[in-house]
Amino acid sequence: MPVSLQTTSLVSSNSFGQLFTVTTFGESHGPAIGCVIDGCPPGLPIAVEEFRADLDRRATGKSRHTSQRREADEIEILSGVYEGKTTGTPIALLIRNTDQRSKDYGDIAQSFRPGHADYTYWQKYGIRDPRGGGRSSARETTMRVAAGVIAKKWLAERHGVRVRGYLSQIGEITPGSFDWAAVEQNPFFWPDAHDVPTLESYMDALRKSGDSVGARVNVVADGVPPGWGEPIYGKLDGDLAAALMSINAVKGVEIGDGFEVVAQHGSQHRDEITMDGFASNHAGGILGGISTGQAVVASMALKPTSSILIPGRSVNLAGEPVDVVTKGRHDPCVGIRATPIAEAMMALVLMDHALRHRAQCGDVGEMSPRIP
Ligand SMILES: Cc1cc2nc3c(=O)[nH]c(=O)nc-3n(C[C@H](O)[C@H](O)[C@H](O)COP(=O)(O)O)c2cc1C
Repeated sequence: MPVSLQTTSLVSSNSFGQLFTVTTFGESHGPAIGCVIDGCPPGLPIAVEEFRADLDRRATGKSRHTSQRREADEIEILSGVYEGKTTGTPIALLIRNTDQRSKDYGDIAQSFRPGHADYTYWQKYGIRDPRGGGRSSARETTMRVAAGVIAKKWLAERHGVRVRGYLSQIGEITPGSFDWAAVEQNPFFWPDAHDVPTLESYMDALRKSGDSVGARVNVVADGVPPGWGEPIYGKLDGDLAAALMSINAVKGVEIGDGFEVVAQHGSQHRDEITMDGFASNHAGGILGGISTGQAVVASMALKPTSSILIPGRSVNLAGEPVDVVTKGRHDPCVGIRATPIAEAMMALVLMDHALRHRAQCGDVGEMSPRIP
């Protein structure tokens, strides 16, 4: 009888990570969304209140520039936490949906929004839940943010790693200057407070026009020690790219200088090593798929929202031509709410790699010389 030597298991595409594994479930207008986090080390203190800040940062309805759906996003911890600490068993988190308005989606059920996942889900599954976009809705990213809270906390406590993001472009607009302190002070996660009035009027005009616009989000992890990541198929940059690309509406990911490297020379791009540390960080903190000890830097491009009020050509279920106008509550620029999601995905990847590094190379310790 043939013996199977297969060592990798087939993991469903609703799960993410190897040792710190997150599985999400739920649809936009179903009764609830949730996740199961498997592989979290025991003993990490975690309380319901600690999810509040990041869930609020991702939430809709916080300003007139995002979707007006208002979800309470009250998290329930169903398992894996005892007397305020993780137990090492699966952590199940649940959020009940409370502000569905499915009648807005009657038209979507009969036709395919150009630029959305309606047509591809239909072709793949032959059945779809059109209410609020079903599983293809960014409502699912709420649970990534929730799981990311645990990863961020463990990374900070265990390794002093801090993961932060910001919006670095809306349409043609880029920040005039950069200040981390400004990022959390405006509804755009924008690093230059002076630009905020310009963004406000830009978004107001866009909303009135019924159209949408793309955006760019940057995410940075400080304090990552050298050695995390794996050649060849488990590269830290490869896993980061996949994680960020898995976010709804992301069409491009860059690590470090990204596509700018095309026009660079080697003498310019290489990050020279001095006694005081690396002289630059064009690599984005990763070489050979492994962290250098510098900041890990990534960037992602989000497309303009496809659900807009401007009519677009499509077909209906009967195969007839139709003009689609999408009503309902939508984000005119999905990038405005994407910063906490990008942070969460980076934190999940880093935590997974921290545990993988510890599992295989935990005995190696710090090597000399260590670049400061
Ligand atoms: C934070 C966030 C909010 C989003 N909100 C909307 C929305 O209101 N309306 C919409 O049509 N798409 C929205 N999207 C994008 C869709 O979820 C996405 O375009 C769709 O699932 C198709 O997948 P794809 O664009 O990755 O191919 C949002 C994406 C993100 C990240």
